[in-house]
Amino acid sequence: MQDLRPFTNRISQIGAGFRDAQILFVATEADVFSHLEAPRTAGAVARALAWDARGTRMLLDGLVAVGLVEKADGAYRNGEAASACLVPGKPGYQGDIVRHTQNGWDGWSRLGECVRTGQGVPRDGRRRDPQELRNFILGMSNIAALSAQDVLGAVDLSGFTHVLDVGGGPGTYSIAFLRAHPAMRATLFDLPEVVDIAREQVAAAGLTERFRFRPGDYGKDDFGQGYDLVLLSNIIHSLGDGPNRALVKKCHAALAPGGTLIIKDFLVDEGRTGPGWSLIFALHMLVHTGQGDTYTATEVEDWTREAGFGKGRLVSITPQTRLWVVEKEG
Ligand SMILES: C[S@@+](CC[C@H](N)C(=O)[O-])C[C@H]1O[C@@H](n2cnc3c(N)ncnc32)[C@H](O)[C@@H]1O
Repeated sequence: MQDLRPFTNRISQIGAGFRDAQILFVATEADVFSHLEAPRTAGAVARALAWDARGTRMLLDGLVAVGLVEKADGAYRNGEAASACLVPGKPGYQGDIVRHTQNGWDGWSRLGECVRTGQGVPRDGRRRDPQELRNFILGMSNIAALSAQDVLGAVDLSGFTHVLDVGGGPGTYSIAFLRAHPAMRATLFDLPEVVDIAREQVAAAGLTERFRFRPGDYGKDDFGQGYDLVLLSNIIHSLGDGPNRALVKKCHAALAPGGTLIIKDFLVDEGRTGPGWSLIFALHMLVHTGQGDTYTATEVEDWTREAGFGKGRLVSITPQTRLWVVEKEG
């Protein structure tokens, strides 16, 4: 009989993936990694956290199993990834995005219902919990802190003077653009409660003088005019086809003649065969937004052509993150 173990191992790994995720979530939530920059016994970690000694030993062993923590002579210590990305204050910190992923747990537990009905998990008029909103917005910053440099490396932004960052979140992309280009100014458009977080981030970067903030709803409110660059980063995946067409038209209207629109998202291959991460992200959007999806470059090109933009170009910055760059006729 054929050896089925490679298949059963893979199936078991997929099915038990939630255990690995919970090990990461619990450790991140309690900030376990801050205790493991130097070697510590399970007993010492349990005392520091006021946790049960046996449960703590099991969690630390679980962290060894998933490859985040190393163990030698009975003591645990962060591996390279945990030390660089899971200790608060480090430049590569990813803890906010881990918490944001954890906040998606309840929604994902209802995936079957969402697939059967084609609807997202109903929010029942609930506003997002302020701590969850903060995890989301600072989580965006965790990711953007790394990928903003990829965008700057992929597209020449010298010569642009005023960027409109639509749904700019924490402002991490605009902050990076302004640091790289001293003559550039930015206007960040986002929901009022998010603009409050963006103001903090911009102030911490020392760039308040070069920023304007426009609190509003991109489905309803005006963006202003005269920008020579508009950034739509990780916005289109949370909207359906119709609202995206309308949004792209608003971006066109906001741009000065000759201006550039950059749409950055998890664009999928034309046959929707990959990247795998982006195919799974479409399900994340189904659960959490109902109308959202991941799109192909051809779909995005159709929206920009309809809005009046010229021929665009596709730029890949990582396997999953792609840019669609288009110009408004001069
Ligand atoms: C996935 S985040 C992307 C943030 C940022 N552009 C980035 O790439 O890091 C989506 C952003 O859109 C904002 N947003 C969602 N709905 C909005 C609306 N109706 N009007 C304005 N902004 C909105 C969210 O608050 C959030 O900051």
